Amino acid sequence: LTTLGISGDMKGMNLMITAGPTIEPIDPVRYITNFSSGKTGYSLATAAAKRGANVTIVSGPVAVDAPEGVTVVPVRTAREMRDAVAEVFPMCDLAIFAAAVADLRPENEADHKLKKGLDDAALSTIRLAENPDILSEMGHAKGDQVVVGFAAETHDVVPNARKKLLAKNADMIIANQVGNGLAFGTEGNEIWMVTEDGDEHVPYMLKAELADIVLDKALSLMHGQE
Ligand code: CTP
Ligand code: CA
Repeated sequence: LTTLGISGDMKGMNLMITAGPTIEPIDPVRYITNFSSGKTGYSLATAAAKRGANVTIVSGPVAVDAPEGVTVVPVRTAREMRDAVAEVFPMCDLAIFAAAVADLRPENEADHKLKKGLDDAALSTIRLAENPDILSEMGHAKGDQVVVGFAAETHDVVPNARKKLLAKNADMIIANQVGNGLAFGTEGNEIWMVTEDGDEHVPYMLKAELADIVLDKALSLMHGQE
């Protein structure tokens, strides 16, 4: 039996989290992807499971272990992630989109390994197509779910996050600054929690601690909705 967190304040709640990168194949041996360790999404899953939530992670390929008692739906591409999310989302009370989804994918996946010399034209000009925006699709389709997204920005962090809040019809965007060794693969982060009502800055702390703060804020949005 797993032990509930101190409060068990998420008991019976259904939470879906997207996590990790997506990978988009060029050919059987190559792909394009985004930087992502999966730590942010998996930390949220661990914290929520401790608080009693039923957690499903829709996860791109990561090296971190799934927390005990959490359901993991493994996916590779953004389109696979969208399809998996679309199945889980309707049953959710809270959905957190922490995945680093590749915005673009190779338009055509070669069925054979592209070879130097023979396939130079294809190798030097990989045409890209746009992937579905999973958060935006779910944000605009949501009913009672509280929807939380992330925004990794190199500049104008809060204004850019607010644009995403509106464009994707999310209830909250967790914004952080990236670049210059910040955020990716690190143990901690500094965030801004951006909602319709304003933005709250949370100073640098470990991802495990941030997870509980983000969940507290999401719970307050859920209660505000009732
Ligand atoms: N997201 C998503 N599907 C995508 C792209 C992004 O679900 N195809 C989600 C991410 O999981 C995150 C949020 O949208 O919660 C913002 O992702 P981000 O990459 O910061 O924003 P984009 O809208 O892709 O804009 P850009 O990369 O140009 O800043
Ligand atoms: Ca993006």
